[in-house]
Amino acid sequence: SDTLTILGLESSCDDTAAAVVRHTLGSAPEILSSVVFGQTELHSAFGGVVPEIAARAHAEKLDICVERALQEAEMPLGKIDAIAVTAGPGLIGGVISGVMCAKGISAATGIPLIGVNHLAGHALTPRLTDQITYPYLMLLVSGGHCQYLIASGPQEFTRLGGTIDDAPGEAFDKTARLLGLSQPGGPSVEAEARNGDPKRYRFPRPLLDRPDCDLSFSGLKTALMRMRDHVVAEKGGLTRQDRADLCAGFQQAIVDTLAEKTRRALRIYMEQNPNQPTVAVAGGVAANTPIRTALMAVCAEQGAAFCAPPLALCTDNAAMIAYAGLERFRAGDQDGLDLTARPRWPL
Ligand code: KG4
Ligand code: ZN
Repeated sequence: SDTLTILGLESSCDDTAAAVVRHTLGSAPEILSSVVFGQTELHSAFGGVVPEIAARAHAEKLDICVERALQEAEMPLGKIDAIAVTAGPGLIGGVISGVMCAKGISAATGIPLIGVNHLAGHALTPRLTDQITYPYLMLLVSGGHCQYLIASGPQEFTRLGGTIDDAPGEAFDKTARLLGLSQPGGPSVEAEARNGDPKRYRFPRPLLDRPDCDLSFSGLKTALMRMRDHVVAEKGGLTRQDRADLCAGFQQAIVDTLAEKTRRALRIYMEQNPNQPTVAVAGGVAANTPIRTALMAVCAEQGAAFCAPPLALCTDNAAMIAYAGLERFRAGDQDGLDLTARPRWPL
């Protein structure tokens, strides 16, 4: 039919999420509900996501999450056309919990099942929020990922480059840990950096000497550790200002690196697609205001449109999974009950 209503499930990292998305041909997709249960408090004592704890929490929360998403959308299961679930990549325990839950519902009701790649979910989000058309250049920046992709179809992605070590979100999180700031590190480092001088500490700009679109962020934390230890050795500790300046210098290095690599990715993209280029961002790090501002400036300078989904849809959620499943289902694609979790599923 012209209208499809999809239930989406997401449990590949530390958020348990369910959502209902509806789309009628010729009009904008609608998010009827998007429920996210975070696990930040569960992991906060450990300084990172503990896979065992995450898996157990997902298994506990998935059912109620689905129930609430259906309730908020005022959609009984009988009106759902397909169930989309993240089948990877991610932490295996969580992905299995989600796939099992979706399979259970599908087996009990006969509703078709669609396994969705989590990265495709992020990469298609700008189509859900802004209906941008294929092809477009995508920058995916999260706690676990960092890559440039050309998206030319729901399952057609060309990778132009990406991080060779840490993802920027991971770098933000490690920096926060090294400076005693709260997790997740991105928002707390960004907040500290607002009062800091980005020029006081000089951080490296890794791989800028290389002409490709690859990035590297692990050297930043090593540099940070060295600078921190130097200040501590000199003065016996960090002042509030030292901390703010370290955060500002670190963040500026990421801003500059992402801006320059985006400029290169855009040039490569525009060689093949010179007309009305669009750059879209997604992933938790896209929530960072200085990063967004810098990317917007690069787009303006190169004559490209810039698209950044609302913050709640940049971070992990199930609406993006429902929507990615919807595009596949529209194309006549679905999976069987033999769908398996693929913790290392590449795009
Ligand atoms: O996409 P996401 O929710 O989860 C995955 O990694 O898939 O992204 C979470 C990451 C965390 O590392 C977090 O520190 C980072 O996004 N993040 C930020 C900001 N908000 C979240 N990084 C920089 N600035 C922010 N404002
Ligand atoms: Zn994600």
